[in-house]
Amino acid sequence: MISSDLRQRRQQLMAEIGQGNIAIIPSATVRTRNRDVDYPFRQDSDFYYLTGFNEADALAVFIPGRQQGEYILFCQEFDEKKALWEGAHAGLEGAINDHGADDSFPIDDLNDILPGLLENKNKVFYPMGRDSDLDHNLMEWITHIRSQTRSGINAPGELVSLEHTLHEMRLIKSPTEIKLMQHAIDVSAKGHIRAMQRCRAGRYEYQIEGEMIHEFIDNGLRAVAYPSIVAGGDNACVLHYTENKAVLKDGDLLLIDAGVECDHYAADITRTFPVSGVFSSEQKLLYQLVLDAQLAAMQEIKVNAPWNKAHEASVQVLTKGLVELGLLRGDVDTLIEDESYKLFYMHRIGHWLGMDVHDVGDYKINDEWRVLEAGMTLTIEPGLYIPEDCDSVDEKWRGIGIRIEDDVLVTEQGYQVLSHAIPKTIAEIEAIMQ
Ligand code: GLY
Ligand code: MN
Ligand code: MN
Repeated sequence: MISSDLRQRRQQLMAEIGQGNIAIIPSATVRTRNRDVDYPFRQDSDFYYLTGFNEADALAVFIPGRQQGEYILFCQEFDEKKALWEGAHAGLEGAINDHGADDSFPIDDLNDILPGLLENKNKVFYPMGRDSDLDHNLMEWITHIRSQTRSGINAPGELVSLEHTLHEMRLIKSPTEIKLMQHAIDVSAKGHIRAMQRCRAGRYEYQIEGEMIHEFIDNGLRAVAYPSIVAGGDNACVLHYTENKAVLKDGDLLLIDAGVECDHYAADITRTFPVSGVFSSEQKLLYQLVLDAQLAAMQEIKVNAPWNKAHEASVQVLTKGLVELGLLRGDVDTLIEDESYKLFYMHRIGHWLGMDVHDVGDYKINDEWRVLEAGMTLTIEPGLYIPEDCDSVDEKWRGIGIRIEDDVLVTEQGYQVLSHAIPKTIAEIEAIMQ
């Protein structure tokens, strides 16, 4: 993260909050995995977006117009012993000198100091309902201030969800953010390509996952953006399959949905390819149909187009194709209207992508699908899933799950496929797997 970007975000947030008000946002906490072993720490995306501060036990406060400094960071004090066992941490001085805070306090003093900062503020913006400790503490602090009203101190009268303001900011990506996403995507692409090149019957799903992780870490990115899905054959019909423990069989397809994070920005990419390197005729027909649906959906990505258009385009192409192949019977419009297509395509076309794989930002405004704007990033990921036990279709189609997922940036001119470097057409996939 670049400090000028962080400063600019904080300034924008404070302009939106307005003078006389305050915003509070806590860091993520370390979670215990078992006994004295913790889960790897992942900073809260909202907190990191505003602070770039990657420590637990911290809390940021923004007070537009505060004389002694508008950005206050509560964090852990520097501790020699902690530094010895766990490594570097900023401490109170580092919070100011290295992280751009105007003022810093020990997190252990939060209960003593924060009520004073809340005094005489009108609105408190905070992530409502996300951190039960914060919800609880805020009530205690406000109750404490109320007990002092006779000395002329007023307690805030309004609690406002911070998310709306902040998530609208996060929805539009800056050039710096797009660069980080592009790097996450490029490294993920290397993983997908390595998986294609090293896939063969008899290897296990987890071994192919290992090939991808090798590429991620070898390129310096150690955190996946979500648990990788490496699903051979029928397993691909389980949408969130993460067991990744089956042996790969000749004649099956392999669906891989995997992406890595770069400085808290996610890639989210799916490719589906034949274990043997060559598609069967049924697989080819279904694969081409999903690809056609994906390309049709992308045609709807443009500034001012309602977000749902891409989904509608994918439903249209897939339903028509399923009728042509004999997997659905009836009139295409009717099958769309009565949602019969959902037997094979049960999820939506995609989602916002950013610091969170399913990134923040509303999809509808006043009950209407919102329109796309330059700088939004999203996935386009149609799929078809025909499990082994789907007895409404001929056996030759069963045990096939296909999804093709790319990461797309909305631009003034249309769109840009950030994950274009990974083979996607039947010919490209068969060629790279030779
Ligand atoms: N990897 C989760 C998704 O594609 O939405
Ligand atoms: Mn996705
Ligand atoms: Mn995905």
